[in-house]
Amino acid sequence: MNQNYLHKMIATSKGKSSEAVNYDSLFDLRLATNITLIKNLYFSLYPESNCTKDFEKLIALLPKLFKNRPIDLKKQDLNRLNEGNWYQSEHIVGMQLYVDHFNKDINGLADKIEYFENLGVNFLHIMPITTRPKAENDGGYAVNSYTEVDKKYGTKKDFLSLTKKLRSKNMFLMIDFVVNHTSDEFSWAKKAIEGDKKYQDYYYIYPNREIPDAFEQTLPEVFPETAPGNFTYNEEMQQWVMTVFNSYQWDLNYSNPEVFVEMLTNLIKLADLGVDVIRFDALAFLWKKLGTNSQNLPEAHALISLFRMCLQVVAPGVILLAEAIVAPTEIIKYFGENEMEGNECEVAYNATLMALLWDSIATTKTQLLNKSIQYLPIKPKDATWINYIRCHDDIGLGFENQDIYNLGLDAQEHRKFLLNYYCQKLDWSSAKGQLFMYNPKTGDGRITGSAASLLGLETGIEKKDKKLIHTAIQKIKMLHSIILSYGGIPLIYAGDEIGTLNDYSYLKDSSKKEDSRWINRPHQNWKVIETFVKKETPQSTIFNEIKNLISIRKKTPIFADHNNTILHQYDNPHLLIFERTSKDQRVLVVCNFDTTSHSIEKYWLHKIDFILNEKSKDLVTNKSIFLINNSLQVGAFEFYWILKN
Ligand code: GLC
Repeated sequence: MNQNYLHKMIATSKGKSSEAVNYDSLFDLRLATNITLIKNLYFSLYPESNCTKDFEKLIALLPKLFKNRPIDLKKQDLNRLNEGNWYQSEHIVGMQLYVDHFNKDINGLADKIEYFENLGVNFLHIMPITTRPKAENDGGYAVNSYTEVDKKYGTKKDFLSLTKKLRSKNMFLMIDFVVNHTSDEFSWAKKAIEGDKKYQDYYYIYPNREIPDAFEQTLPEVFPETAPGNFTYNEEMQQWVMTVFNSYQWDLNYSNPEVFVEMLTNLIKLADLGVDVIRFDALAFLWKKLGTNSQNLPEAHALISLFRMCLQVVAPGVILLAEAIVAPTEIIKYFGENEMEGNECEVAYNATLMALLWDSIATTKTQLLNKSIQYLPIKPKDATWINYIRCHDDIGLGFENQDIYNLGLDAQEHRKFLLNYYCQKLDWSSAKGQLFMYNPKTGDGRITGSAASLLGLETGIEKKDKKLIHTAIQKIKMLHSIILSYGGIPLIYAGDEIGTLNDYSYLKDSSKKEDSRWINRPHQNWKVIETFVKKETPQSTIFNEIKNLISIRKKTPIFADHNNTILHQYDNPHLLIFERTSKDQRVLVVCNFDTTSHSIEKYWLHKIDFILNEKSKDLVTNKSIFLINNSLQVGAFEFYWILKN
């Protein structure tokens, strides 16, 4: 039972009393419920011997933060405690977008709410909108502030009116909290540069290379091509600063308790703007320790839980998403482990599923996907995934080498094949991706490109090849059918719902041209969308199919996430088969990743007790499902959602 469950119990019992809700007394109860955990986590990071005063400061801060929380959000927090976990519902379907690329600015985005409603999207992840350096800024992930809106997006007032509007429509909003680093223009960094010792201690700053060199022994490089190494020399300070990402992104030093308190305040200010889910950016990197790779450290988990436990006291309706694009067995730990199970982040990216789907497309085989997912630990019951195909970042091949070896394959050769397949190194591949951050030292590389271009639509259109276009559309539909049925929040990347191709315009912009992730950060093409009513195009076909899948998902309660996904192992290397199950209903999801058709034998369907009868139908087409010659046929890149009552 996690802490949130206790808060629900308390809120429900108090809500039953006839007296008007006393928000302050519920706050006191939440604080009393979490304080021992907060204390234990805090002193596991900051020694009790000299941090008692800092701890007292933190505890005194929480009521002040609560006092500032707007009353309508306090009400919403209580409603959320009284309801089930909204984020596990089959009704939730998300979209990730850049505000300016979608429709100019915040107000422009608000004008498009109808578009989301028409498609069925009710959860938005908007990319950073706060102030950032004018030149390179990593798409806003180099922050000059945590809550001040950059004027190119509008004003804070616009943002508040957007969050209010979304609330009134029962839509949810997710935004980033860039928790690991600030830009080098952030007020703390500026003061550090001016020589202020207090703020120099907010970062990892060293007078010479001694400690940086020691760190470099074990720290990997995130952007080896454009930002090699993990430290940057600052001429003005004449000191070395830790910059794990880009040279202008300074890593925050959480071993300093002041940093934690300041960042907690920033986090809660962000929540107070009416944000429902806070994306903890790059959270695997939060704690640095000499002699380690400084990723996924136990201290980082304690720190995230500490943020979580404090946020829960102040704003219990706000939840956290872990942006941990790390090894499969590490990702799951961000839901909290052992006695902290369910007390870290409620949501995490299912980066493992995402990367393995791309593996299956390239190889036409699902063995690695099946084998890798099969043995992953089950997530806590109150946690959920974000299932996605593409996002604003690259595709990292983040699966375990051991799983590749277990299939009798050479891991290095396999990864090389994937890079070649997607990055235009194989004549026969229709994928049009780019190689990202290739590291010749290790042979590691990642892939950029839009879903449609990676799946062959760009090549098909260029060559006017109808078959290629058809295959690409099938693949796009099939991958979306998986994220919409797998269990968790499906997050569609804006543009993918209309098959948007690569955007090469970044090459003309000096602040972007070194970062090929911009190829998959396109502008929403409203002109194309306008044509949908008049004619059928590949784009309209994709849009209508995704819209149909969304509406079916929402009508099918079994698609809510209750840890009710069962992966089936059938002896065919090209099929992915999983089941969503409940007491009185089952849905079998079947996908064929191959270029030819495959079949599932009747005896096997009997073995899993999925006996098809005249009532069995495919939810997607609403057609009956029949066996032909005692087997179920699945065409090339075809998929079914077979319902059995
Ligand atoms: C996350 C973001 C990525 C950014 C990085 C550094 O991984 O998704 O776009 O470059 O954090 O903030």
